[in-house]
Order: sequence, then C-alpha cells, then structure tokens
Amino acid sequence: MERRDFFQSGFAAGLLGLGGTAVLPSVLSASPRRLADGSVRLSSNENPLGISPAARTAIVEGLDLANRYPGASKAPVVDALAAKHGVAPKNILMGNGSTEVNQMFVQLFARVRLVTAHPTYEDVGRYAAPFALPVTQVPLRADYSHDLDRMKEVVDRSSGPTMVYICNPNNPTATVTSSAEIDSWIASAPDNVYFLMDEAYYEYAEEDPSYWSALKWVPDNPNVIVVRTFSKIFGMAGMRLGYAVAHEDTIGRVGAIASYNNTNHFACVAALASLQDDALVERSVDVNARARSVLEDALDELDIERLPSRTNFLMHRIQGDLRSYIDRMKERGWLVGRPFPPMLSYNRVSFALPEDMARFAETLRDFRSHGYV
Ligand SMILES: Cc1ncc(COP(=O)(O)O)c(C=O)c1O
Repeated sequence: MERRDFFQSGFAAGLLGLGGTAVLPSVLSASPRRLADGSVRLSSNENPLGISPAARTAIVEGLDLANRYPGASKAPVVDALAAKHGVAPKNILMGNGSTEVNQMFVQLFARVRLVTAHPTYEDVGRYAAPFALPVTQVPLRADYSHDLDRMKEVVDRSSGPTMVYICNPNNPTATVTSSAEIDSWIASAPDNVYFLMDEAYYEYAEEDPSYWSALKWVPDNPNVIVVRTFSKIFGMAGMRLGYAVAHEDTIGRVGAIASYNNTNHFACVAALASLQDDALVERSVDVNARARSVLEDALDELDIERLPSRTNFLMHRIQGDLRSYIDRMKERGWLVGRPFPPMLSYNRVSFALPEDMARFAETLRDFRSHGYV
C-alpha cells in the first residue's frame, strides 16, 4: 500500500485506536475560521485559507523524516526559490520566518544608521536597538508612501555603512511606494548604502502598475537585499519560513552568521509543495481581493475614511479611543489590529474570508449606531 493510501484508508488511525476516519481526514481538512473561543483573528495579516492542501499532505508524509536534520529537505526549496526568481541557489538565504532574515541583515550591515519610514513594520527597528544603533524614522508622506527624499537626506548626512529599510507595500498602512522612485535612488546610491527591501506582501500588490519587485538589482548590486516570506500568500505563518534574495557575496556574509539548521523540516516540505501548487497564489490573491472589496464597500457605505490597500489588510478611521475600540471589537468576537502610533485614529484590519468580512461589516454598522466609527 502506498503511504498516502495507507493514511487515507483510515487504517493508520485505526491502528492508533483513534477512531479511524476522524483523525487523518481532520489533519488534512481546511483550517478553522475561528479560534477556540469563537473569535476571528483580523489582527496579524494571516491568510484565512490556511496552508494549501498539498502542503498539508507533504507535512503528514514528511513525518517519516522528522527524526533527521533538515538539510535534505531544505536544498530543494532553495533550488525551487532560485528557479522561481531566476537566480542561483547561492543567491538565496532562508530563515525562521522573514523576521529572522531581517534580523540578520540589520545586525550585520547596519553599522552606522538604520533609516526607516514611520509607521512601518516594527521588527526591523527593534533588531537595531540592542546594538545601540541610531535609527531614524522618517514620517510617511501625506499619501502614505515612503518619503524617499527625506530618507535620502538622512542617509546622505551619514558616513559609513547605512541601511535603508523599505517595506513595500508598507505594513501597517497597506500602501505602495512607487518602484520607479525607489529604482532611481538605488541607481544613484553608493555601495555602502544597503537597501533592505521587505516584500512580504509582494503578490497582493502585483496588480498595481506603479509597483514591482526590487529583484532586478540583486545580480549586480551587493547592497540590495529582497526579503520575502511564506507567511502571507502561502498561508504558512505558523510554520516559519522566509528568505532573502541577494548577491552571492552578501548572502555569503550573512550566511556566515546564520545559525545552522534555522529552517525546520516541516516548513521546508510544506514550502516545496506550496511552490509546486500552481493555483495557490492566484487562489489567495482572489479570495483576498473579494474579502477586501466586501470591507471596502462597507466602509464606503458608512462613509468611513480608509487607506488604499495593496495587501491583505487595510487601515480605516475610527472615532474615539483606539484601545476602547479594540476592546469593543474583541467583545464582539473580532480581534483587530494593535495601535500603530502615530496613527491612533485608525485601526488596521486584516482580511478574513469574504463571508466573515460580510459579518464584520455588520459589526461596523452597529458601531456606527454607537458612534465608534
Ligand atoms: C512587512 C513584514 N515583514 C516581515 C514580517 C514577518 O513575517 P514572517 O517572520 O512571518 O516571515 C511581517 C509580518 O507580519 C511583515 O508584515
């Protein structure tokens, strides 16, 4: 009997005395939409579809090799990522989520100063803090794009290796910074200005004609690092796998400080299966777009100001105190985003499935009747 048939027959579960059909089919079924307490998470920009069915099967089958170190399961993922991005395996460095990848690059390369937008994804600034590295936070422009001119001014005033962190699209605002503008800065920047390009939400933004990846800079520019993740479009946030694509010299330097075996076997087998699931990205993008439009329609109907979203979340205006708003949402079973200073009159909402967003819209209507939005 093939291993997969063995599992699907329920025979394996029967052997374990676990009620046959109930066990593995539940392992292979879709992710629950709610947490155990009945609430829905709209707080962490996760993918409500869960991991792909192919990834689930790969994880179950991968149990066979759980006793082995992950080198053999890691190599095909690096190869697949290199093929996907048209680079060589030596241009890829994987980590325990993209946050670890960001951590390694910040701590190795940002020697003199780290320049970020504000607000932006907080982890990167936090990784600089223990090293007493000056971090300059440059407020976003009025259209919520990165203020590249002001960021460049700060960089130009610094001497020595400086790192610029550009989160595009930006978290928490979900907004895009023009890739043409970023390109012209990269083209004119000296070699010791490192660009850490966080493209965690790349696939959601591809539809925007002003947006493209910074990958094209990688082969000839050791100072440009593109960081991606399996947490968002591939729905693998709990599995922990992210990676950098960069020049081989840059990957080599960071690889030298990376801990050994920092990617786990199950994340690797799930990632490989996800990369081979041709329809996965399209499915995630499509469900996300439908969820976004349900929410956008509700916000527009209620005349609530919202920021344009090129990701799997958006920010919208609220009335009154943000902490009270978050607590009230929690009472109604919705875990919404945390405060992102200085935008304390906005709430960030991650998208669940379209049908959940329709229910969330009902809560917004109710909140309107109370004056909370
Ligand atoms: C912009 C951005 N970068 C990186 C991460 C970290 O992702 P992970 O460590 O799960 O790959 C997140 C998570 O929300 C994010 O929003």
